Amino acid sequence: MNAGERRRILVTSALPYASGPIHLGHLLEHIQTDIWVRFQRLAGHECIYVCAEDAHGTATMLRASRNNATAEQLAEAARAEHSRDFAAFHVGHDNFHSTHSPENQHYSELIYERLLAKGYIFTAAVEQLYDTEAGLFLADRYVRGACPRCGVADQYGDNCESCGATYEATELIEPRSALSGTAPTLKSSDHYFFDLPQFTGFLRAWTRDGVQPEVANKLAEWLDQGLRPWDISRDGPYFGFQIPGQENKYFYVWMDAPIGYIASFRNYCDREGIDFDAFWRADSDCEVHHFIGKDIVNFHALFWPAVLTGADFRPPTRVHTHGFITVDGVKMSKSRGTFVTAAAYLEHLDPEHLRYYYATKLAPNTDDIDINLDDFAQRVNSDLVGKIVNIASRCAGFLHKGFDSTLASSLSDQALWQETAAARTSLAALYDAGDFARVTREVAALADKANQYINEHAPWKLAKEAGREAEVHGVCSLGINLFRILAIYLKPILPGFAERAEAFLNVAPFTWEDAAHPLAEHRIEKFKPLAQRIDRKAIDRMIEASKAPDGDDAAAPAEAPTISIEEFAKLDLRVARVAAAEAVAGADKLVRLTLDVGDHERQVFSGIKAAYDPAKLVGRQVVVVANLAPRKMRFGISEGMVLAAGPGDADIFLVAPDAGAAPGMEVR
Ligand code: MSP
Ligand code: ZN
Repeated sequence: MNAGERRRILVTSALPYASGPIHLGHLLEHIQTDIWVRFQRLAGHECIYVCAEDAHGTATMLRASRNNATAEQLAEAARAEHSRDFAAFHVGHDNFHSTHSPENQHYSELIYERLLAKGYIFTAAVEQLYDTEAGLFLADRYVRGACPRCGVADQYGDNCESCGATYEATELIEPRSALSGTAPTLKSSDHYFFDLPQFTGFLRAWTRDGVQPEVANKLAEWLDQGLRPWDISRDGPYFGFQIPGQENKYFYVWMDAPIGYIASFRNYCDREGIDFDAFWRADSDCEVHHFIGKDIVNFHALFWPAVLTGADFRPPTRVHTHGFITVDGVKMSKSRGTFVTAAAYLEHLDPEHLRYYYATKLAPNTDDIDINLDDFAQRVNSDLVGKIVNIASRCAGFLHKGFDSTLASSLSDQALWQETAAARTSLAALYDAGDFARVTREVAALADKANQYINEHAPWKLAKEAGREAEVHGVCSLGINLFRILAIYLKPILPGFAERAEAFLNVAPFTWEDAAHPLAEHRIEKFKPLAQRIDRKAIDRMIEASKAPDGDDAAAPAEAPTISIEEFAKLDLRVARVAAAEAVAGADKLVRLTLDVGDHERQVFSGIKAAYDPAKLVGRQVVVVANLAPRKMRFGISEGMVLAAGPGDADIFLVAPDAGAAPGMEVR
């Protein structure tokens, strides 16, 4: 990077789905992106960072109908919540828009029409599984059945969790709709396809520089196997944009989602008076960088560059791919309490601690990133508090007491100053390359040297000896200057800490080049603690509070809008007596209950096996939702639901009426 050459950069993180909450995985991506963006800005470049809510698709539609809200309401509630969550982690999006926006509709239609005019779109009939009861074609995640390869039951429509096979949903043995429980039928309809194979040559060239080398290798394999046309339409009912000129056909959510990057940027340009075309015209010399997880590489490194080029927009400069979060070596899990949402984290811990810890783990590769809870506390406490803040806290007191908080006029160890200041060149290259792990290692090593220097000169001893004031002044002034450089180096990772350091040092907001110039004869403020230690117990409390049954989505946004008394009155809640109870073979959580509801008996399946021994349930009274529509499950029909409190697994507590209540009584 040449000094004086000001880059113009547009940066994005993948758009989170409106159907779920922000969690540690999303935070990894947005913190990674934000650190990169903040570094570019600190180095003096123009760097605009946009994101948006991924509003469309079947998941949003179904979730909204479960919540008695419209899909638009749910998407807007999620957008507001998600953008607040990110802001709390100092993620500085310049704009957080929505894919359900006029700008996105405009660009989706424009891009589609250009592709159509240039012969990149065709239609073909597709046979798909259709749920006649729900009136919907079933996306892969809404069909379950036995794996066509190994026969293991209850697998999703696209791949088998047991043997790893991938297949078409139509190949599943005895498929069932996850929506209604009924057996889906095969139904044909016309779909729109983007003719991806026409872009094979272009993509071979683009992927060479457009992605990290390991990703390029993977993509080369796919390109060698031959690309297939991409199905970009879905039949209604579907929450999305209608395909121009077509009845009941919508753009597939993955068609308009990346266009959401453009739409969010357009919205920002209109507000800020920025030249949109300078960034997106085919021959733009601005840069566009996307940060994504490894699960969505094909969308960003094959479809997206091809769609953009085909529609006369510029392709991305680079797609940066990261790996997945694991916690203590395993996938995030609700039952283990490691599916930690942004909101749960914020209740217990400091967002900058996560930023620092993620930075120590992030490198420009796609390896999964393990959060080790002990290591998390240990790294932050030892590096940040023990090494870096320590430099300032050891020096500030002497300056305050003896020297009116004013730094000396010269540096007492030129070589040490030079070495620390010179690191800015290599650190800048590391930031630009996304190697934040090495940035933090090298900054910690520089902090070690600064601490060593202070130890060797022991100002606390010198201060007791007559006539050595100048030495005390020199050592502590250099210490503060070294601390200042390190705070500058960490500013992209720790913006809040850097701000507190600026206030303590009594200086204007740092720039990267400030590290080249020491402070001399400058008055600083009184020292106040600049970072807190992590209390290991707070981590445990966060994990405990995050425990919920897997698959449970209690933490999702836009939950439980208020209901009217009329809606409440629709619930038929009854006292019931457990007449019989048995564990369901083949289901780890379920108990089959036979309930006496006064005038009849009915069967209800309840996920309480981890908490209750079925034999001991017989004779107990419970409360049942008596007018819940019967649900067909794998083991039989469930006629109602038993009320229980708690997150699930062993922590579930049946709601029971007091003595005196009898089966069949209405509960109000
Ligand atoms: N809506 C799509 C992206 C559309 S971009 C035009 C989507 N949404 S997502 O909410 O499922 O994921 C958003 C981003 O978070 C993706 O880049 C995904 O890889 C990342 N992560 C989601 N879970 C993750 C982990 N457990 N670990 C790390 N990142 C993960 O995909
Ligand atoms: Zn299988």
